[in-house]
Amino acid sequence: MKRQAYVRRILIEPDPLLHKVAKKVGDLELRMPLTQQLIDDMLATMYAAPGIGLAAPQVGVAKRIVVVHVGDDPQAHAIVNPVLSDFEGEVVAPEGCLSIPGKVGDVTRAERCRVSGLERNGKKTSFLAEGMLARCFQHEVDHLDGILILDKAQNIRDAVPVETPEKEREEEGNTSVARIEA
Ligand code: NI
Repeated sequence: MKRQAYVRRILIEPDPLLHKVAKKVGDLELRMPLTQQLIDDMLATMYAAPGIGLAAPQVGVAKRIVVVHVGDDPQAHAIVNPVLSDFEGEVVAPEGCLSIPGKVGDVTRAERCRVSGLERNGKKTSFLAEGMLARCFQHEVDHLDGILILDKAQNIRDAVPVETPEKEREEEGNTSVARIEA
């Protein structure tokens, strides 16, 4: 039987839980229905927001779990105990955060990195990410370490709403802002 997924409340800064270092998930713990339910709920919460990524601390659970679904990818990634390595390149781009609504800032991230960790079924995984996928994983793993974009972004400013006509957004210098909430 398929579990029902629930949209959970996203913690908003300032909230002390957003600044805690999250704990690794054990093998047994990962198999528990409670943890599998959490992953289902994180996906539902990310899509409902809508966002392209979410970390467990954002729904008040200090565990090292992230979900990411970027652009044209056929499926979301749900990665447990993610570790990033092999960083390459450097890109500065505007980034938003579901826990800091209405704000964006320019964040420097590696253009590519390797993502290693466990899939939700406990299988080891390791793959190269680049572009928005790499950026989003870096954003989410920061959440697991209690780091928000407020800690590293330059030029934090009000996000221009998506409904704003393209021309006005260009005048504000914020054309690419809208879909980078994570
Ligand atoms: Ni975020």
